[in-house]
Amino acid sequence: MDEIDWETRWRQVVEDRATLASGHVDTGYWDRRAASYARSTHARVDEFLQVLDPYLSPHKTVIDVGAGTGRHTVPLAQRVEWVTAVEPSEGMRSHIAGRDNITVVASTWEDAEVARADLVVCSHVLYGVAAPVPFIAKLERSATERVFVMLRESDLPHPAAEIRRRLVGDAGPRLPRFSELFMLLLQMGIAADVDFLRYPIVTRYSDMEEAVADSRALFGPGWDEDAGQAALREILRPDAGQLVFDGGVAVSGVAHWQPRTSS
Ligand SMILES: C[S@@+](CC[C@H](N)C(=O)[O-])C[C@H]1O[C@@H](n2cnc3c(N)ncnc32)[C@H](O)[C@@H]1O
Repeated sequence: MDEIDWETRWRQVVEDRATLASGHVDTGYWDRRAASYARSTHARVDEFLQVLDPYLSPHKTVIDVGAGTGRHTVPLAQRVEWVTAVEPSEGMRSHIAGRDNITVVASTWEDAEVARADLVVCSHVLYGVAAPVPFIAKLERSATERVFVMLRESDLPHPAAEIRRRLVGDAGPRLPRFSELFMLLLQMGIAADVDFLRYPIVTRYSDMEEAVADSRALFGPGWDEDAGQAALREILRPDAGQLVFDGGVAVSGVAHWQPRTSS
């Protein structure tokens, strides 16, 4: 059987997905989604921080790559000396709570100029990165002790995917998966340790307008306003003045390893 080139395959998956929606690489998308993302993930119990726990101590430094709304940055800053949060979307950055031991860098990871840190973490960022090898190589170069990369293994739990299933018959081109990251890392010569996490995904919208805008952005070409809204009315449930999409239980993997460039 032919060997798979995981780098080529990854790029293909990202490019196929981009024909549907550019969401995951589009800072405008994250600007618009920031409030809903902050609301939805604020109370999300994922155990990413527990995976990091053995490596945390008050004199450590951390870089949080693609920090989003800071849901990991802020609790990490309570445990370590300093966190540098790299985040290109202004909307997402605006949710990162200020602390005197957090530096926020307004940049993509590819363009960021940051000093090395003990730990480098990157959670749910790589889905839209078409060239993952230089991205991961930079994660590794920037860490002196350990790199942590989290991605979902299960499919995207988003209303847009459910609406496509109902209206088009499929969820559209998928995102890269954790298992593909793992194989890509092996191809790069990195035999990472792995922890799998399972947690419920709930997406919270303030109103129908916000839900429609978010689904339209990820649905891709052919969005039908009336049919889309009708489907949304079926799949969202009201809760405490918000509209909630129950995305079920997600399975994510965390790959973590000691950088080969650590000395
Ligand atoms: C799904 S959110 C994850 C945020 C956060 N890490 C978390 O787990 O809650 C993805 C974030 O990655 C950011 N992002 C996308 N491409 C990026 C890149 N090339 N460099 C740095 N951040 C990026 C987006 O702006 C967005 O805030």
